[in-house]
Amino acid sequence: MTVCVESVAEVRAQAAEARRRGLRIGLVPTMGALHEGHASLIRAARAECGWVAVSIFVNPTQFGPGEDFARYPRPLEADAALCRREGIDLVFAPSAAEMYPAGFATAVRVAGLSEKMCGAFRPGHFDGVCTVVAKLFALVQPDAAYFGEKDAQQLAIVRRMAADLNLPVEVRGCPTVREPDGLAMSSRNAYLSPGERRQALALPAALAEARRAMETGERDAARLAALVRQRLAAAKGVELQYVAVVDPDTLEDLAIIGGQVLVALAARVGTTRLIDNVLLRRLPDPRANRTE
Ligand code: PAF
Repeated sequence: MTVCVESVAEVRAQAAEARRRGLRIGLVPTMGALHEGHASLIRAARAECGWVAVSIFVNPTQFGPGEDFARYPRPLEADAALCRREGIDLVFAPSAAEMYPAGFATAVRVAGLSEKMCGAFRPGHFDGVCTVVAKLFALVQPDAAYFGEKDAQQLAIVRRMAADLNLPVEVRGCPTVREPDGLAMSSRNAYLSPGERRQALALPAALAEARRAMETGERDAARLAALVRQRLAAAKGVELQYVAVVDPDTLEDLAIIGGQVLVALAARVGTTRLIDNVLLRRLPDPRANRTE
């Protein structure tokens, strides 16, 4: 049975009871408007944990002025139904006042990682994310928490925060779920008109070019980024914000690609800001072990 609660006291009590029963606790933090991508996180949590909570909270502190906080979709009934279908134990859907009561004055900030890539275009965004995720970790005290690899920067930052603060939680990344035509699933895809939806396919197409280039031997990060930039410059209706070719853990820019590499981008399609990325691995050079 899925229990839906709105208060901090109730979520604490429910999680404490699960802990008392010796169950492994999983947490899937979300902002709602749940889709297959969220469902895959939920299923990963269900597979590994005896008790799973999903939080649904459109967190105001991670939206900047002029961003889409007010119009962000909030289909709470449909979200709760998905959670019931997926066998979730607890849905925690607090109000903003419950999460940030009068006098709230604390922020959690992961310096450095939070300022680059999306952080350069959304100042303060990751401080809002870290603060709310830290609160959710404190309330639920999960053994494991599940995040999508589509938000690769968020995942790296939450991992850093958990390590830096010695939080006893395993931060799990789950693969991006895509529509059949390749568009990464996102609650914000709902903003796209049919024409914009087609234009947005340039994002996964550009990343697929990066993958092909790596597969055919490209090792130079600047050339890889230029390839993605060129592909998107030629795409109608797409306004690129950044392309980053970075280490997936540290988010440091790479020059020559040695092992794993994250190629991440953000772009506006119409008024909608979309992000996407691909995690690539340098394949061993077949000539490396050849004996002459
Ligand atoms: O990825 C999201 O949906 C949000 O950033 C999160 C992690 C739920 C924090 O509000």
